[in-house]
Amino acid sequence: MEDPALRSLLGKVERERGLLLSSYKQPCLRRRLAVRMRARGVHSYGDYASLLDRAPEEYELLLDALTINVTKFFRNPEAWAVVRERVLEPRLRSAGRLAIWSAGCASGEEPYSLALLCAAAGETGGLAARVRIDATDLDPGALARLRGASYAAAAVEEVPPALRARFFSAGPPYVLDGAVARLVHPRLHDLTQERAPRRPYQLIVCRNVVIYFDRATQERLFSAFADALTPGGHLWLGKVETLFGPARQRFELVEPRERLFRLP
Ligand SMILES: C[S@@+](CC[C@H](N)C(=O)[O-])C[C@H]1O[C@@H](n2cnc3c(N)ncnc32)[C@H](O)[C@@H]1O
Repeated sequence: MEDPALRSLLGKVERERGLLLSSYKQPCLRRRLAVRMRARGVHSYGDYASLLDRAPEEYELLLDALTINVTKFFRNPEAWAVVRERVLEPRLRSAGRLAIWSAGCASGEEPYSLALLCAAAGETGGLAARVRIDATDLDPGALARLRGASYAAAAVEEVPPALRARFFSAGPPYVLDGAVARLVHPRLHDLTQERAPRRPYQLIVCRNVVIYFDRATQERLFSAFADALTPGGHLWLGKVETLFGPARQRFELVEPRERLFRLP
């Protein structure tokens, strides 16, 4: 990193809040910092660092600016159809447990869409013993919304009508059925930190998250995902994301358009 004032600001945020901002792509990071600096009327990274000391609530606002939580149920419906047919339904037809990790889950629409498809494929009664969906994000506010499981009309517009009628309250707000919501286990987790996930997964979903990270961080994460999957496990990335680095050799490409990969 060329700019010493920026480097020192990032070092401060990391020391004081444990946020590894240096893992984010620089142009993206600079844009978001510029938004916050404009909002507070400061013109240099040094002044912004002093502001963080004077007004520590600014840390939360910086985090909000960095974590873009845009999401909805069944975002990119055509990709969901592929994952339902190629991953979820075959897994649920066979005996055995299904462990899924939704990494960068925002306010829950993505892990709950997975839970809805699992519930639709079987009886909800015994499902909790078989299906576990870990949902992690860096943003506590997003996880609080996930726990509420209550959504506005725009969030649920891609939910197939039969699923909406069966598993949501009449809305708005649309409140998700408790048995479906309980399949999802939220946890605060920063993907840029070197910490292995707890269990092996059959499916890892990480969509529209790694795009913000620099190349080295993405490569490290892809290898961590490969390590965290069982043989035959799937990795599903966002439409604009590319799998590269050493981990690329470990995966087979299942569906190029939908960025679906599989370990042999
Ligand atoms: C655009 S949303 C994607 C939500 C969902 N995966 C989807 O595709 O609809 C990106 C999410 O990544 C989260 N995020 C950003 N940096 C992160 C990090 N270092 N660790 C974990 N989550 C992060 C943000 O808080 C945000 O909720």
